[in-house]
Amino acid sequence: MGRLQEKVAIVTGAASGIGLATAKLMASHGAKVVAADINFDGVKKVVEEIRQAGGDAISVSVNALEEESIQEMITIAKVTYRKVDILFNNVGGTKADKDHAIVDLDKETWDFAFRLNLRSIGYGCKHVIPHLIENSGGSIINTASMAGILGDLDSSAYGSVKAGVISLTRYVATQHGKQGIRCNAVAPGLILTPATEAYFTEEVKQRFVRHNVLNRLGKPEDIAQTVLFLASDASSFITGQTIQVDGGSGIHAGTFAEFMEMRDQH
Ligand SMILES: NC(=O)c1ccc[n+]([C@@H]2O[C@H](COP(=O)([O-])OP(=O)(O)OC[C@H]3O[C@@H](n4cnc5c(N)ncnc54)[C@H](O)[C@@H]3O)[C@@H](O)[C@H]2O)c1
Repeated sequence: MGRLQEKVAIVTGAASGIGLATAKLMASHGAKVVAADINFDGVKKVVEEIRQAGGDAISVSVNALEEESIQEMITIAKVTYRKVDILFNNVGGTKADKDHAIVDLDKETWDFAFRLNLRSIGYGCKHVIPHLIENSGGSIINTASMAGILGDLDSSAYGSVKAGVISLTRYVATQHGKQGIRCNAVAPGLILTPATEAYFTEEVKQRFVRHNVLNRLGKPEDIAQTVLFLASDASSFITGQTIQVDGGSGIHAGTFAEFMEMRDQH
């Protein structure tokens, strides 16, 4: 018996990386999955794979930058499966070539980061909550980031709005807990997805490993397993939380890696 048997779960950004791994894992646990992405060909392929493995899923084209598109995605889920239990608000990202230090940020970069990472989740919650209430409850999971918890030299707009995702998660949890709706977030550290594989050199990846307490980088499945837990009844007394899934990179003093090296040299 799967952990999401008979549940209907919408996953955004399901054509790649974390969303793809989560859509597949949820389907393997019995969920009927609405796999949504702006890359419709990509998400159709994912749905085909889910069906071949014996799962139940449909593909939906969504542009997370547009409220109407998000609302339509949720309506399609409801019309197809008659209810919605779970929304994984996972789409996110930034203009990596322009999102650097605060003093260099332009309006376009700020606005894009806000619309893609935070406003999209706000709209997802806004339009799914009436269906969850009708259903006597449900679970919303949002993708934040360790960039929303720790300061850094780069990705200032992205990190700032991801911090907003953590706050929004608490607001939704507070406003709708009495209606049986739980809302939690995951904050991934560096996770090896097609996007990060292409962006970071091997040397940079090894630097990330040095700062992880565990001796490896993260995989999309590490996040998917956490989202599965937050979506399932196993986490039924947990709400408003952000779980760091980062190999421990965010739990220690900044000097950790240097002192480890000094210790190894002696
Ligand atoms: N990979 C990491 O290291 C990492 C770390 C922290 C947080 N995150 C967050 O995890 C989430 C998923 O990231 P990932 O690494 O799996 O990325 P990814 O690039 O592998 O997948 C993102 C998916 O989102 C889709 N997408 C992009 N813009 C969209 C839009 N406007 N509307 C609908 N779909 C759109 C893309 O087509 C793609 O399929 C994001 O919110 C990201 O910020 C990732």
